[in-house]
Amino acid sequence: MIDMSGKVLLLTGASGAISRAIATLFHAHGAACVLTDFDGDAVVAFARGLDPEGARTLALRQDVTEAGDAQHAVTSAVAQFGRIDLVVTAAGLYRDALVSEMSEAEWRQSIAINLDGVFHTCRAAIPHLAPGGAIVNIASMAGHRGSFAHAHYAAAKGGVLSLTRSLALELAPKIRVNAVSPGLIEGPMVQPLIARKPELIPNTPLQRLGTAAEVAGVVAFLCSDLARFVTGETIHVNGGLHIAS
Ligand SMILES: NC(=O)c1ccc[n+]([C@@H]2O[C@H](COP(=O)([O-])OP(=O)(O)OC[C@H]3O[C@@H](n4cnc5c(N)ncnc54)[C@H](O)[C@@H]3O)[C@@H](O)[C@H]2O)c1
Repeated sequence: MIDMSGKVLLLTGASGAISRAIATLFHAHGAACVLTDFDGDAVVAFARGLDPEGARTLALRQDVTEAGDAQHAVTSAVAQFGRIDLVVTAAGLYRDALVSEMSEAEWRQSIAINLDGVFHTCRAAIPHLAPGGAIVNIASMAGHRGSFAHAHYAAAKGGVLSLTRSLALELAPKIRVNAVSPGLIEGPMVQPLIARKPELIPNTPLQRLGTAAEVAGVVAFLCSDLARFVTGETIHVNGGLHIAS
């Protein structure tokens, strides 16, 4: 049993499919959840559904590409709950584009959301992280292998993996820093890819898409005491697709 009572989570991209599962799980285990997303209305509505009293949630608009928004999220979290123990960076953008046809703006947008966003949020949170705290960055299988028509996304996620390991060195022994690399997880992000390449499902050893809850469980493990000797690592959650193809 994972007990997160008294812990404060800061979660980005909190209106997304995977983040909603993370917030739901962490809240159920007792954590106070500071939930931020680019879509401020959506994250406020989600938080209200999760915690109608609002006793253990705070929902904010945060554009992760903006350093000032990260600072505001951290300041608000500390003002409301007095501390931050756990940071999970899950905001992300996955768009198709070949490098040969990619505009400067498409490249910049992907790097800004998928990589700079992690930097901004971690940097703002570090001075406030309680000893024994943990950061989990959501990377991707694409960051390990590359990804056809998603070079900007893959490059950013590869950067997230290196940033994670470097931060683990910088913040030890006080804070642990790990990454989770999902494969194909149910939700809007992978629907277009599965429509184009349905064979990806039978090619996955476990023969199905993962669920957001299955990613959330691994994030919770890495944030918990069960993983207290784990830092600088990445856990893959992909039903075996990474080793099979
Ligand atoms: N779904 C998958 O199969 C899969 C696979 C590998 C990695 N991932 C990663 O997992 C994370 C969550 O993915 P998901 O499937 O829940 O995607 P999703 O599209 O459901 O959620 C992404 C969230 O990020 C938010 N966001 C986008 N730009 C933002 C910005 N500038 N500032 C703040 N928030 C912003 C969106 O509003 C959205 O709520 C992402 O980092 C993604 O790259 C997902």
